Amino acid sequence: MTPVTVRVPAKVNLQLSVGPPRGDGYHDLITVFHAVSLFDEVTVRPADRTSVRVTGEGAGSVPSGRANLAVRAAIALATVAFPRQSKPAVHIGIRKRIPVSAGLAGGSADAAATLVACNELWRAGLSQPELRGVAARVGSDVPFALLGGTAIGQGRGELLTPALTTGTYHWVLAFSAGALSTPEVYAKCDTLRAAKTMNVTPAAGGAGHAGLAAAQPAPVAEPALSTDLMVALRSGDPAAVGPLLSNDLQPAAVSLRPELRRTLAAGRELGALGAIVSGSGPTCAFLAGDAARARELAVFLTGAGVCRGVVRVTGPAAGAAVTAPVPG
Ligand code: C5P
Repeated sequence: MTPVTVRVPAKVNLQLSVGPPRGDGYHDLITVFHAVSLFDEVTVRPADRTSVRVTGEGAGSVPSGRANLAVRAAIALATVAFPRQSKPAVHIGIRKRIPVSAGLAGGSADAAATLVACNELWRAGLSQPELRGVAARVGSDVPFALLGGTAIGQGRGELLTPALTTGTYHWVLAFSAGALSTPEVYAKCDTLRAAKTMNVTPAAGGAGHAGLAAAQPAPVAEPALSTDLMVALRSGDPAAVGPLLSNDLQPAAVSLRPELRRTLAAGRELGALGAIVSGSGPTCAFLAGDAARARELAVFLTGAGVCRGVVRVTGPAAGAAVTAPVPG
């Protein structure tokens, strides 16, 4: 069996609206995923036991063994595809360009790529919807990395509807020196909301109990899709899209990493049409008017010293797909 290589994109969220915490530790979301042209490359080859080797951007901080989402994806696929036979194993090689724990769903991307690669290597024959089902069990963002493009995510992000967009959007991604843990950012979002919405409600019992009051958090609104954003995306006008970008996790990410405030402000001052923390952060995504403005913005942001590094990317990008391996 010849090795199979799959290329898979990072994502940013153009809208990320977070509902109240659910009983299972997740939050219901309405999000607009947008795949961008920053790709990891995953190569799988047959092996006696499943293992992973990571090279490239942030390789040292990627977990090995079952803690790695790509390993979990390979095991999940083998279990579904070969329920009664002995399970095939693979060696997974990941060439990373998507930074780790950066709000760009890099780990989810690697898991999605592994699903596509193993499906091909093992000739397992799972359809796209079947692969998406396995992907959803591996992680909330994994189904979108399979699909790519621009899509509305519901549930915990795993229920997808492709979105209509026009044209190509030019982005500058500003990487941060540190990482952020997604569960910590969601937990911080809950804490900030509880603190902000604590209001005083009159205690039951009528006038005789005047002055007795209980502080209770106001309920968090159910998230709703921004129809203005959907219209803007269909228009293909980045100047219309920029001001409509939104991320409920941004206050939490900024609270955990206050230096992001400077990064976002610098991008806005330097002419970005929209400036936003990507997903749970700490990467910041800046929307530019065109390729030339994105180049300018990337240079300015680098010069401003407000981030570890920048890349220019475009979106929407295609989802996980088999490719010829890039030598070297
Ligand atoms: O699904 P995934 O394992 O990628 O999620 C990582 C963590 O992010 C979850 O354990 C949860 O803490 C948080 N999360 C959430 N609500 C979502 C998605 C993720 O609270 N919709």
